[in-house]
Amino acid sequence: MQTSTTQVAIVGAGPSGLLLAHVLAQAGVAAVIVERQSADHVSARIRAGVLEDATVSFLTEVGLGARMQAEGLPHEGFTLIYEDLAPLRIDLQALAGRSVMVYGQTEVTRDLMRAREALGLKTVYEAEDVAVHDIQSNRPSVSYRLAGEAYRLEADFVIGCDGYHGVCRATAKATGSLREIERAYPFGWLGLLADVPPVSHELIYANHADGFYLCSMRSPTRSRYYLQCRLDEKVEDWSDERFWSALAHRLGPDRAAALVQGPSLEKSIAPLRSFVAEPLRFGRLFLAGDAGHIVPPTGAKGLNLAVADIRVLSRALVSFYQTGSEGALTGYSDLALRRIWKAERFSWWMTSLLHKFEGQTLFDRRIQAAEFATLAGSAALQKALAEAYLGLFD
Ligand code: FAD
Ligand code: DHB
Repeated sequence: MQTSTTQVAIVGAGPSGLLLAHVLAQAGVAAVIVERQSADHVSARIRAGVLEDATVSFLTEVGLGARMQAEGLPHEGFTLIYEDLAPLRIDLQALAGRSVMVYGQTEVTRDLMRAREALGLKTVYEAEDVAVHDIQSNRPSVSYRLAGEAYRLEADFVIGCDGYHGVCRATAKATGSLREIERAYPFGWLGLLADVPPVSHELIYANHADGFYLCSMRSPTRSRYYLQCRLDEKVEDWSDERFWSALAHRLGPDRAAALVQGPSLEKSIAPLRSFVAEPLRFGRLFLAGDAGHIVPPTGAKGLNLAVADIRVLSRALVSFYQTGSEGALTGYSDLALRRIWKAERFSWWMTSLLHKFEGQTLFDRRIQAAEFATLAGSAALQKALAEAYLGLFD
């Protein structure tokens, strides 16, 4: 067993773990990341696409703004559609004076990886059998195996940035003081990425009689589309032709006339889930990002919540190392959970409004349509939606 020490041990090199390590490095706090996948695997995952302006500001503040500002697409609004009712454009700028940025999670991850390489900082990739120990002591540690060798990393703190299926929340659970609050939805999203111009220059979120669809993008020449699908469906059963024809049908003839089809670069199915772990601190173990909470993707909040967690947690850790006080660390869980629950409510609401639910009665469907019509008729409700989409949670 080879033992090493650091100040902060981070489990998981997704956006949460990479960003935390980046901010700590800037403040002179040593951190090591232990990740179970390869760097190529992590950087190839196609996930989030929409960044709140608070996320953009924080990434810029910590020196990650250059490529995002040059290549990201600022979006001043998006459109909601409910079956045949008149489409509703949510004018984010007019309603709330701010915009979101369309810039893929893949790009954020690459920017973080490059910044890490430039500083010569080390990430342990392809670690096996990752386990967390002694979280109730002042010397917690992370053990793992690499190419058959056993390693132990001792630290002052362990931060669980290892996503929904990670080992850190499981370790917290074993303390008996973790509460998990959850709602699973009876459908998933089938996503397709293709090098074709987007059908619309702004995002479209829609509830069609066949189910939800979302038209998004990564650039003026790269589109990202999602279709609501059943949970038991397999991605192999969705040829590109089947996907494009289902999307064209949901778009309807007028909108579909502008749809450019092409071979998929990626296709995957994601289940939808609302989930919160309470609290987010267990002795010297903290949970951040998807390790602590999941939102259904409809509100585009997951990555933004992860960045907001790291904003609070990184400041608290830096404050500990600068002052020796645990005050800010003690406040992390409550502060983060207040924001997380507001994002959970918003994501649940967007999901409820925009999806077809199995067993939905005509009454349920009419109420959904009336909810959409009420929103369309109320500038006040649209402003509330715009503020939540833009991220007014702190
Ligand atoms: P993850 O990205 O899950 O990273 C966790 C890391 O930990 C992974 O690299 C994993 O390999 C590693 N790991 C796991 N277990 C272990 C272990 N035992 N040991 C070591 N390492 C481990 N969010 C938005 O804000 N806007 C959007 O538009 C949006 N759209 C989405 C669309 C889809 C289809 C999906 C699936 C998600 C979307 N999200 C969106 C959510 C967003 O992608 C996640 O919230 C975000 O990835 C969370 O980052 P994270 O670093 O906390 O977790
Ligand atoms: C994308 C994903 C989302 O969940 C969303 O709400 C908007 C855009 C995307 O992948 O582009």
